[in-house]
Amino acid sequence: MFNPQPLATNLNEPVLAVRSLRLLLNGQELLRGLELNCYESGVTLVMGANGAGKSLFLRSLHGLLPAEGEIEFAGRSLQQTRSEQAMVFQKPTLLRRTVEQNMLFAAPEGATAAQIEALLSEVHLYEKAKQPARRLSGGEQQRLALARALLTQPKILLLDEPTASLDPGSVLIIERLIQQAADAGVKVIFVSHDIGQAKRLASDVVFLHQGKITEHTSAQNFFHQPVSREAQAYLAGELLI
Ligand SMILES: Nc1ncnc2c1ncn2[C@@H]1O[C@H](COP(=O)(O)OP(=O)(O)OP(=O)(O)O)[C@@H](O)[C@H]1O
Ligand SMILES: [Mg+2]
Repeated sequence: MFNPQPLATNLNEPVLAVRSLRLLLNGQELLRGLELNCYESGVTLVMGANGAGKSLFLRSLHGLLPAEGEIEFAGRSLQQTRSEQAMVFQKPTLLRRTVEQNMLFAAPEGATAAQIEALLSEVHLYEKAKQPARRLSGGEQQRLALARALLTQPKILLLDEPTASLDPGSVLIIERLIQQAADAGVKVIFVSHDIGQAKRLASDVVFLHQGKITEHTSAQNFFHQPVSREAQAYLAGELLI
């Protein structure tokens, strides 16, 4: 069965701490000195307009980009926690194999066929287990990418718009799994543009604008009284440039 593992935390230490995070790519400063102390377990939502730097931030948290600065999860370095992380990318990358083989390839030692079946059933892909993964629809590929990530029993789950192209029923399936993981103590960092979804899932919100954090606050505060001008404009549906 799907059996999420909690991230061991200590009340005195942020679950996620980011210090002076800076990312330069091709001579452009794309993340500009991010500072973050996130004490909330559960789901931290990252919001911001297209191009704000959300995907780059998430990839940096996963150690995939040459960002400067420090990242710690519950007092441990990124390197120490890297093997406890799983990420679902904005555009899922699946192997040229069947759905089931994609799961088997990601399976940690000791994972059972029953676990794989259970997860595929959870995301309603059990009937497609023998089909080539790359022939799944966009939404099905996203569901498979999440099932594959959950199979590794991550303590930290990084999700980059995992429901962007899903129908409402599929969104509910994914949200239930994310909530289940968060309730079990998995730290979830989630990028979404969907305000309804954000209200349902988020405990706190990090708002990014042009590579900077303009606001980090509880979800309650963010949606009722955002403080930064950029967040106010975003929530009002104004185009931010
Ligand atoms: N390798 C790169 N070199 C230069 N600029 C880059 C590079 N990769 C990304 N960018 C730029 O960095 C900015 C932030 O990109 P990012 O993908 O993080 O945006 P995002 O907030 O995830 O947006 P979206 O909501 O559209 O997914 C964009 O303007 C993008 O063009
Ligand atoms: Mg993105």
